[in-house]
Amino acid sequence: MNTILVGGQWGDEGKGRIIDLLTERSDFVVRYQGGSNAGHEVHIEKNVYVLHLIPSGILHRSKVCLIGNGVVVDPVALVKEIRGLRRQGIRVTPKNLVVSEIAHLVLPGHKLLDELREHRKGKDRIGTTKRGIGPAYGDKAARTGLRALDMLQPVRFREKLRAKVTEHNAIVRSFGIKPLRFDNVWSEYLSAARFLRPFIRDGVALLHDAMAQKKKILFEGAQGTLLDIDFGTYPYVTSSHPTAGGACVGSGVPPTRIDRVVGVMKAYTTRVGEGPFPTQYDPKLGSEIQKIGDEFGRTTGRGRRCGWFDSVVTRYAQRINGINHIAVTKLDVLDHMSELKICVAYKDGARRYNTVPMDLDTLRRCKPVYQTYKGWQTSTKHIRRFRDLPKNARIYLNAISRHTGAPISIVSVGPRRDETIFVKN
Ligand code: IMP
Repeated sequence: MNTILVGGQWGDEGKGRIIDLLTERSDFVVRYQGGSNAGHEVHIEKNVYVLHLIPSGILHRSKVCLIGNGVVVDPVALVKEIRGLRRQGIRVTPKNLVVSEIAHLVLPGHKLLDELREHRKGKDRIGTTKRGIGPAYGDKAARTGLRALDMLQPVRFREKLRAKVTEHNAIVRSFGIKPLRFDNVWSEYLSAARFLRPFIRDGVALLHDAMAQKKKILFEGAQGTLLDIDFGTYPYVTSSHPTAGGACVGSGVPPTRIDRVVGVMKAYTTRVGEGPFPTQYDPKLGSEIQKIGDEFGRTTGRGRRCGWFDSVVTRYAQRINGINHIAVTKLDVLDHMSELKICVAYKDGARRYNTVPMDLDTLRRCKPVYQTYKGWQTSTKHIRRFRDLPKNARIYLNAISRHTGAPISIVSVGPRRDETIFVKN
């Protein structure tokens, strides 16, 4: 059984929490896209772990984690993350963490250019995490990127890095900014390369050997469907494919070996960074849910915008990813609400949309068409069986499932591992 887990909204769906549960039934956990822009949070007993580049499977002994070729790896950030996890008592060795040799690297020039481009865009900024993601994927597509395997040969790595720093500096100068100093970049990247060398291997061979031994693979998507560079609300997207198709190209596992796609969806909707968000709450309810749901980015600390559940978005996500199981997270955040809304379509004047219009001006004009549901106004945190949920909560969840077009398999009612309801379908 190989499973892809994807975000069904704009990211921050609580994927880390669900991945952690599914990891128990997997042998390998693979990140296939994005980079240290992600921030997957997992609560285990009293400890909180935040993972940016490393698959959440690392928190389980005996699982093997792969940072796949589709990821852009900031070597310095990765070393920091490994050291941080070790300090928290987590074993991270080349036996349980592998970095694909053909994953591309995020360099200091990428991070600087990410920041400079955002600054220059002013009010039209994307609201990126400034982790260098867009510029790194840009160099990959332009075929001028550096890959993890370049770190295995110091002489060649130095040459390639110098050429890249020179190229990035030419652009940096055009912004009127002081260029990067190669010596500083080199000393930082050489020491990261030395540290990471034993982790860098052939990821394709690793996964195919695993499949030959009937091992189970879990693909851990970062960000969400509406942030996909093709299918998202472009240009307010990330530069990779968080969608299910990305798992195959980002790891080397063919589509014929995928058995199941789990879409993680929050019981409401959030979005961080700029870009249209049709079901955004009014400011008062927005800040209330932001507080109750602790809706602050784990990578940047930014407050997330919050809104009603948007089934136009989740239905679109279901189609693109082939989601056949839904995991609904953070149901408990809505426990106090007297009334809830689900957006079932958009209207732009007389025209009705049942899917997300890709023209942003149209999307900005769209008004949500809502169905209203009664709240349950009682705590769900202690509930562990679907049938024990308050009737109105079951009605609300069934509506999410019906409008999205897939059954719900998991509902989370709190951040801890045990605050979970497994639904039998
Ligand atoms: P980038 O991925 O840093 O280039 O940012 C592009 C867009 O994706 C911005 O709107 C970010 O806020 C958003 N984004 C990137 N990573 C995440 C994430 O892990 N969760 C939610 N939004 C994200």
